[in-house]
Amino acid sequence: MKHLLNILDLSTKEIYELIKVSNHIARNPKRYQNICAHKQLATLFFEPSTRTRLSFESAMLSLGGQVLGFSNANASSTAKGESVRDTIKVVSGYVDIIAMRHPKEGAPYVGVETTQVPLINAGDGGHFHPTQTLADLATIYNEAGRLDNLVIGVCGDLKYGRTVHSLIGAMSRYKNISFVLISPDELKIPEFVKKDILDKNHIPYKEVTSLEDSISKLDILYMTRIQKERFLDIKQFDRLKDSYVLDVKKMKNAKKSMKVLHPLPRVNEIAVEVDKDPRAVYFKQTVYGKYMRMALILKLLKEKKKPSNIKIKDTHISTKRCSNPHCISLVEQELEAKVYKDENKIVRCAYCDAEID
Ligand code: CP
Repeated sequence: MKHLLNILDLSTKEIYELIKVSNHIARNPKRYQNICAHKQLATLFFEPSTRTRLSFESAMLSLGGQVLGFSNANASSTAKGESVRDTIKVVSGYVDIIAMRHPKEGAPYVGVETTQVPLINAGDGGHFHPTQTLADLATIYNEAGRLDNLVIGVCGDLKYGRTVHSLIGAMSRYKNISFVLISPDELKIPEFVKKDILDKNHIPYKEVTSLEDSISKLDILYMTRIQKERFLDIKQFDRLKDSYVLDVKKMKNAKKSMKVLHPLPRVNEIAVEVDKDPRAVYFKQTVYGKYMRMALILKLLKEKKKPSNIKIKDTHISTKRCSNPHCISLVEQELEAKVYKDENKIVRCAYCDAEID
């Protein structure tokens, strides 16, 4: 059975096929309106969402299927202490496919151990958000006309921004890609993204702090929100929250062909005045997201009998538990401390990929 936990679970060929199918759906919605009749999707959202949950639900309804689930962990038996492992096992007995979002990093890797149906990661803490990346890739392909030969600026919270980690992983597989990573020092990209993705694939990148100094060189500018909910120290958030604001003045220095993406929600990081600029494609991005989720649901339901595509890390049980305070393995106490050695022989948590001290 195939699942989607990390964007790298899909090959570039599969992603290209998803984009083609999603564009076909967008042009011919009636042809798809009953294709998932009698199929059910569960949306299990242990963390708030507007776009991801509603676009998944709209996607399944537009395919003629049905939807059930919860939008708040407190409305489920999680509030009574039920584990992710048990929740997914139970719900997978009721439906044909599950999309789950959880605030703890690595939670879908726990779910995949017990699910009986395809599982989609709709965001796990600051770790990954692969279906947002599908929306991003469809937007770049359709609006910029290509997925290669791009200078991509990623700006804002690169530490906790899970959409950024998934986007960098996905784009690193295309030709002639380079990144400008624009963030405050405190919110730089995590080491596992640099070592396991950028360095491993010999992708050129620069880490800078100024958006003004970089904007003229970019083909794509991917703005992100400073992720208040991930900060352990609220004073640090208050200091960093308005680090970057994209406005009309800054847009004047950008290429005429540059596209501005944002996974949304935005808070202050893009002034509303920029919405009128034709280079601003972040609202179109939300629509591409729905069609890509329709294409993904169709693919995973069709490939239910194929072998699992989740790369099982060569894990062993450690005596040391993960020290990432956001890791699911610290919450679900019955989980063993599974670890693996990456290509640089660094020992990492098998759930959240954090380095084990
Ligand atoms: N982009 C995104 O994940 O938005 P939501 O949190 O509203 O789902």
